[in-house]
Parts: sequence; structure tokens; C-alpha cells
Amino acid sequence: MIADISSLELAGGVSMPSIGLGTWPMRGYEAAAAVLSALDVGYRRIDTAENYENEDAVGKALAQSRLHRDEIFVTTKFNKQWHSTQGVRQALENSLDRLGLEYVDLFLIHWPNPQQNTYVEAFTELGKLVDEGKIRAAGVSNFKPYQLQNVLDSGLVPALNQIQVDPERQSVDWQGFNTEHGVRTESYSPLGRKKSGLLSHPALVRIAQAHGKSSAQVTLRWHVQSGRAAAPKSADQRRQSENLDIFDFQLTQAEMAAINAMDTGAGPFTDSDEFGH
Ligand SMILES: NC(=O)c1ccc[n+]([C@@H]2O[C@H](COP(=O)([O-])OP(=O)(O)OC[C@H]3O[C@@H](n4cnc5c(N)ncnc54)[C@H](OP(=O)(O)O)[C@@H]3O)[C@@H](O)[C@H]2O)c1
Repeated sequence: MIADISSLELAGGVSMPSIGLGTWPMRGYEAAAAVLSALDVGYRRIDTAENYENEDAVGKALAQSRLHRDEIFVTTKFNKQWHSTQGVRQALENSLDRLGLEYVDLFLIHWPNPQQNTYVEAFTELGKLVDEGKIRAAGVSNFKPYQLQNVLDSGLVPALNQIQVDPERQSVDWQGFNTEHGVRTESYSPLGRKKSGLLSHPALVRIAQAHGKSSAQVTLRWHVQSGRAAAPKSADQRRQSENLDIFDFQLTQAEMAAINAMDTGAGPFTDSDEFGH
């Protein structure tokens, strides 16, 4: 029997669909249409951010879908200008206003911006927003182990760290640190951002053929079967459906090992000590 891994649990007991729709870099009509299309084929989690400038479009699609609010899991993220006690509250108000929602399920510090060095203060306030019921879970994104350690030292544990992971860029040390501290890993750019060659890698093609699936499906199954959430982006309904259709097969231990062995050791495209918004 195939275990049901279509949702996973975050520290604090919040349940989250394993696969969500990534919405960057879509905006306006394209973003709204993609979200509506994804909800139509069964997605129940949407990943957006202040910086994507599409929260209003995502909100319109959510309203149009007529799904109940508690059927949909919404993640958004805020920029560095809000890394302060009052700022985090303002960032949430702004996002809720653009999304047309009364709460978000998961609110993330988008980038640590260590030059500013106020991400611990920001995360402390996120913890209070959880306690007040204004967000269901609080997390971070692009946090290196030392940055996460600084948050952990304040006595708080982020529910999730959203980082770049694909078969060729696994950041195993980051992932290991997350897991060791009870922080769920979510993979962004989980398909390698269509980086030329990844989905035609011979190991993925061979495994895909063995299961009658595509390389993208095998890659997403690998993420989820490893215990990570993933947020693949697609504007195309056929590929959206394909990316969600990964729960009726499972990879063998040997296949998981073959994909793990694809790691090149290369880090994320952008260094979160240098870059952030
Ligand atoms: N936290 C952060 O700092 C951060 C950074 C980057 C991204 N993200 C999040 O992660 C999401 C996904 O990342 P991403 O967009 O960089 O990369 P990705 O999801 O790995 O790749 C998206 C690309 O793959 C194509 N694609 C999707 N499904 C496919 C399939 N089944 N077969 C072949 N091609 C497929 C898409 O094209 P089509 O649209 O034409 O299908 C698009 O060009 C973003 O949308 C965003 O929500 C977060």
C-alpha cells in the first residue's frame, strides 16, 4: 500500500498540502488565471509573496474559486523593510489587505538580510502573531544553518524553512540542520527552474519510464517522499495537473538513492548572505 503523503505536518500541528502552486514570476491576469486553474485541478496550497507583486491577483482568484477559506492553505512572505516588531504587524496587514483574507496559513521572512541583522526580532514578532491566531504558522526562507541557529537561540522554532532544492542542488547540510531542529524543509525551484537538462537527466528519465511518469513527476515525488514540501510553478493547466499527480506511485529505496546521488554540491543560485529583499 502507498502511504498518503499528500499532506504533511508542521511543528505546532498545522497540516499543509505537500504540493503547492508556486506563483513567481506571474502577475496580474496571468497569476489569477494560473491560481484559478490550479484550484480547479485540485491544488489546495498557493505560494505567494509581497515581493512577487501578485498577492492581489492571488486574492482575486481565491475569491472567485468559491472554495471555503479553510480549504485553502496560503503562504506569503514579507520583505526586509518590515524586519522589526511593528514592521512585521504592518507587513501582515498589508498582505491580508492585498489578498483579501483575514489570516494567512504560513507567513515567512523571505530573506534573512544579515546586513540588517534584525531577522530574530522579526521572527519573535511572528511567534506572537501565531499566539494571537493572526497567522497559523510562522517560518523563514533562504535561512542558512547559522541564521536559523540565531533564531533557535531566541527559544523559537520556525515551522518551515523554504530553500532552493532540486536533484542537482540539494543543500544537504541546510536540510539536515532543518530536520535536526524540527524545522520542515520546503523546496523552491523544485524542478530546477527549467534549468536546461535537469528534467532530461538520464537517471530521472530511466526512473520515470519505469513508473510510466514524467521526469517532473519523479522529481516532485522525490521531494515529497523525502519529507519536503514543494512549490512547483506552472502557468499551464496540463503541467499543473501533472505536478499534482504524484501520489499514486512510490520510488524504491534504490531510486531515491539514485536521485540523491545526482547532487552536484552546488548551492542555491543566490547567496542569502549577499542577496535579499
Ligand atoms: N523563497 C524564495 O526565495 C523563492 C525563490 C524562488 C522561487 N520561489 C517559489 O518557488 C516557486 C517555484 O520556483 P521556480 O518557478 O523558480 O522554479 P520551478 O518550479 O522549479 O520551475 C518552473 C518552471 O518549470 C516549468 N514547469 C513546471 N512544471 C513542469 C513540468 N511538469 N514539466 C516541464 N516543465 C515544467 C514551468 O513552466 P510553465 O509555467 O510553462 O509550466 C516554469 O518554467 C516559485 O513560483 C515561487 O513561488 C521562492
